[in-house]
Amino acid sequence: MIRASVFLFLLSLFLPNSVPVGAAWQTLSGNPPLVIANGGTSGLYPDQTFPAYADALNYSLPGVAFSCDLQLVNTTTGFQQGICRTGLDLSLSTNVNFIFPERNRTYIIDGMNVTGWFAPDFTSDEILNNVSARQSDLTRSPIFDQLNLAILVPELLAPSNFTPTWLNLESPSFFEEHGLNMTSYLLDFLSSPNVLPPDFLSASEITILKDLQSAARAARTKVIFKFLDETATEPTTGQTYGTLLGNLSDVATFAAGILVPKGYIWPRNGNETSLEQHTTLVDDAHSANLEIYAYNFLNDEYPAPYNYSFDPITEILYFIEKYNFSVDGLFTDFPTTASQAIACYANNSIKSTQPGSIDVTIISHNGDSGNWPGSTIPAYNSAIATGVDYIDCSVQITKDGVLICRESPDLVSNTNIATVTTLFTTNLKNYPQLQSKQGVFTFDLTWTQIQSNLKARIFSPTEGLARNPEHDGLYDIITFADFLSLAENNSVGAFIDIQNAVYLRTSQNISVVDAVAVALKAAGYTNSSKKVIIQSEDSSALARLRDLNVTYPLTYLIPYTSLKPVEVTADDFVDIKKYASAVSIARRLVEPLDPVDKTLLLPSKVVEWAHAQNLTAYFYFLRNEQSVFPFDLKADPTMELYMLTERYKVDGFITDFPQTTINYFENHCVASGKGTSNIDFVIPNVEPGLLDLQLYGSFAAPAPTPDLVVPEPPLLGPAPPAPGPSSKPSAAPSRLSTGLFFSAVFPLLLHCLALL
Ligand SMILES: *[C@@H]1O[C@H](CO)[C@@H](O)[C@H](O)[C@H]1NC(C)=O
Ligand SMILES: *[C@@H]1O[C@H](CO)[C@@H](O)[C@H](O)[C@H]1NC(C)=O
Ligand SMILES: *[C@@H]1O[C@H](CO)[C@@H](O)[C@H](O)[C@H]1NC(C)=O
Ligand SMILES: *[C@@H]1O[C@H](CO)[C@@H](O)[C@H](O)[C@H]1NC(C)=O
Ligand SMILES: *[C@@H]1O[C@H](CO)[C@@H](O)[C@H](O)[C@H]1NC(C)=O
Ligand SMILES: *[C@@H]1O[C@H](CO)[C@@H](O)[C@H](O)[C@H]1NC(C)=O
Ligand SMILES: *[C@@H]1O[C@H](CO)[C@@H](O)[C@H](O)[C@H]1NC(C)=O
Ligand SMILES: *[C@@H]1O[C@H](CO)[C@@H](O)[C@H](O)[C@H]1NC(C)=O
Ligand SMILES: *[C@@H]1O[C@H](CO)[C@@H](O)[C@H](O)[C@H]1NC(C)=O
Ligand SMILES: *[C@@H]1O[C@H](CO)[C@@H](O)[C@H](O)[C@H]1NC(C)=O
Ligand SMILES: *[C@@H]1O[C@H](CO)[C@@H](O)[C@H](O)[C@H]1NC(C)=O
Ligand SMILES: *[C@@H]1O[C@H](CO)[C@@H](O)[C@H](O)[C@H]1NC(C)=O
Repeated sequence: MIRASVFLFLLSLFLPNSVPVGAAWQTLSGNPPLVIANGGTSGLYPDQTFPAYADALNYSLPGVAFSCDLQLVNTTTGFQQGICRTGLDLSLSTNVNFIFPERNRTYIIDGMNVTGWFAPDFTSDEILNNVSARQSDLTRSPIFDQLNLAILVPELLAPSNFTPTWLNLESPSFFEEHGLNMTSYLLDFLSSPNVLPPDFLSASEITILKDLQSAARAARTKVIFKFLDETATEPTTGQTYGTLLGNLSDVATFAAGILVPKGYIWPRNGNETSLEQHTTLVDDAHSANLEIYAYNFLNDEYPAPYNYSFDPITEILYFIEKYNFSVDGLFTDFPTTASQAIACYANNSIKSTQPGSIDVTIISHNGDSGNWPGSTIPAYNSAIATGVDYIDCSVQITKDGVLICRESPDLVSNTNIATVTTLFTTNLKNYPQLQSKQGVFTFDLTWTQIQSNLKARIFSPTEGLARNPEHDGLYDIITFADFLSLAENNSVGAFIDIQNAVYLRTSQNISVVDAVAVALKAAGYTNSSKKVIIQSEDSSALARLRDLNVTYPLTYLIPYTSLKPVEVTADDFVDIKKYASAVSIARRLVEPLDPVDKTLLLPSKVVEWAHAQNLTAYFYFLRNEQSVFPFDLKADPTMELYMLTERYKVDGFITDFPQTTINYFENHCVASGKGTSNIDFVIPNVEPGLLDLQLYGSFAAPAPTPDLVVPEPPLLGPAPPAPGPSSKPSAAPSRLSTGLFFSAVFPLLLHCLALL
């Protein structure tokens, strides 16, 4: 390790214009960690299928490894054939239970009676010709099941010499009990002149690894011991994996490395929400001259420790760089994300430091509201520390006219008001124009009532994915005046979002716009030396600001929620231009979704239309939680940001997770990054509509939604009725054009299988 870094340093003295600033990798070899695609891109496609591997190969580091969980079946001619499937009960990852409904059996596995469909009860013809793969993770989308993807064999795993392969042996002793011999199958495999031997061979049983040791050495295959849960028993020694972990020098007598669940390195608390201190396992393994690989990396994990802020890149950096150790490789269902972490985010891969400059505007959303109770001093301070251009206040107004910063006028979701019984019960109201459920609203309470009784609570926008409640009930609600002085004192811009101006003016007789203009003046925000942007979803509120001689740039927010979607046309931007110099666009307008499959429809034109009117286009809201992403983006914030900036040229982002957003713009695979990467990798530019094309041979069309209405009656004068979107009859989505995708590939693949 030391030699490698000295060498790199000496080398650097002779390289013009290119100073390696990253330290040497702390893997055993000093090379970057290996990305092992766990059955391909199994986070999206059914694992161990052709499209899963093709996706992994297309969108990962060069040298990404393919894994196969090996099981055996008999051929009708008296031989054994390997297949790639995970888990002994094949009905959990294939449609075998529908094709062969009578073929279920009950076997004793790990001392328990288990009923299912097991490989020893099938012939290779049955599995390879009749059965197809299914998404095995019930929390993931089953959309690709309809492609009836073939089960693959390990002999066809490596598309070329350049793709390392990893065979993991599923329960060798189970197969031996049922008349199938993995040892003899692998001895043939390793010595066959017709197939490439695997680069890695792993098993969680010791005997077979010892039996294969010399054949593996001859084939230059690395033998790896796979650890299961610490309390589980290794069947051939009768010891628990936890015990075996205690003698790594013994493991080193039969293996070149170990493969461990990631929790062996970074343990978590009981409910998995908090990361404990790391173990010394990586250093211990390296001291025993063992490589160490970790498994179970996935972007759509929940619960996950809040320490990672739902950002999968952050997690990977904990394993490869952040704590002065690096695993030698990662088994991941999302190999693109791991590739990005290594090539684009790890400091070790910086080739040279010529930092670019970030030319997009980054605006927090209620401060760092992904990690803190929103719109509190610590939430704003955390956002400021990341380097955002603007902190933001969603302005709400109290009964006595005090402006405060809150996510929404309803205090139930973002404060502890439900626990303040007197205030809660007497003020619980229903305002159907604002929201469908009951709430307690700022304009029904005085500032004193709010200030002296309420504390902020974190708001979790995605159902079922709670954000960190650790700081709930600790921090005060702050006023708009407090917010302005915080921005001023920290020399950061102030982004002011005026919500429900028309509703408040017409139904509550409150002019929040006038109140904002007065408050700005009172805080000394009167000239262009202050960085301010004011936003509203009401064009009449923007017009009123101009009447009040407020000269700061104005942004029109296109009101769009999943409950109230609107249809936007190019002409709408001509109208918006009359009120504003910028427009805030909701995720779904830039990323329209197939309503059934949650895949991206054809590319959106909204940003282009905004730019045609010289409007600055902001995107709201960047979030890390997996469920905000179309499946095309693989629950990966980096892939989303790349699409939004490279394809759509979005000018600015309003983000719940400012650190993740800033990290993206500093990564060394983008022009604004901290340097350039010394690893040959390009973040994939996701092609909207491609998944639908794979699925149906055609692109899906969006469901029609009501049109956006931009010009509104003015705010002053007789109270106008609240504007509502004009409605169009809705119809089921239809599909446009036709095409072919996989139809050519699969007959070919099946043909190859038949040749075996
Ligand atoms: C791989 O990339 C090629 C070229 O970019 C593309 O045509 C193909 O559809 C991609 N395959 C998958 C599975 O995404
Ligand atoms: C297989 O499933 C059928 C119907 O579900 C059941 O009656 C039968 O007992 C099962 N067989 C075994 C061996 O578990
Ligand atoms: C498995 O099932 C059989 C038949 O029902 C029973 O005799 C045996 O005790 C069971 N074994 C275990 C480990 O539960
Ligand atoms: C399996 O496939 C073969 C060949 O296509 C077919 O003849 C047979 O009927 C299929 N068996 C089942 C159970 O579907
Ligand atoms: C598979 O082949 C082995 C060896 O010929 C035999 O012992 C076993 O019973 C066969 N299994 C099946 C399901 O045919
Ligand atoms: C499995 O195959 C190996 C190698 O051919 C042989 O040594 C071993 O005895 C076989 N095991 C059984 C249970 O037949
Ligand atoms: C660890 O394994 C080595 C090699 O097999 C053996 O010599 C040693 O006694 C073992 N140590 C312990 C504590 O079991
Ligand atoms: C998780 O466990 C910790 C204690 O280990 C507890 O303080 C915390 O409230 C729990 N979190 C959740 C979300 O259950
Ligand atoms: C993870 O977050 C918890 C709660 O904030 C903290 O106590 C713990 O030290 C953090 N773990 C690591 C490894 O930083
Ligand atoms: C990593 O090592 C460096 C130098 O030995 C040390 O300064 C730094 O604190 C270490 N970082 C961590 C997270 O342990
Ligand atoms: C805005 O400025 C114009 C021209 O300077 C002035 O006549 C008008 O009174 C001002 N309006 C307000 C609300 O200050
Ligand atoms: C946008 O700006 C360009 C350059 O300043 C100008 O030529 C063009 O007319 C503007 N377009 C609109 C629609 O305002």
